[in-house]
Amino acid sequence: MTREVTHEERGPAVLDDDDKGDDGLIYVCQCGLSDSQPLCDGSHNATTDEGDEVVYKYANDDADGERREVDEVVYADE
Ligand code: FES
Repeated sequence: MTREVTHEERGPAVLDDDDKGDDGLIYVCQCGLSDSQPLCDGSHNATTDEGDEVVYKYANDDADGERREVDEVVYADE
């Protein structure tokens, strides 16, 4: 499985104690779909049925957007 996600931020986010959950841990989003970047908001649940050999693009780059399977990624210089 591969997921194409658009990121618009151009620098790091600073995390502090306010970002800790009830268990005292900070959960950083690794799926790219959270509306609360860089923190996980549970949107990764939308990825649980992704196939192993499939590239996905989520419209609006979040779990609420339509999910599409990408046939091929073509770069401008190819
Ligand atoms: S890992 Fe991305 S929303 Fe949880």
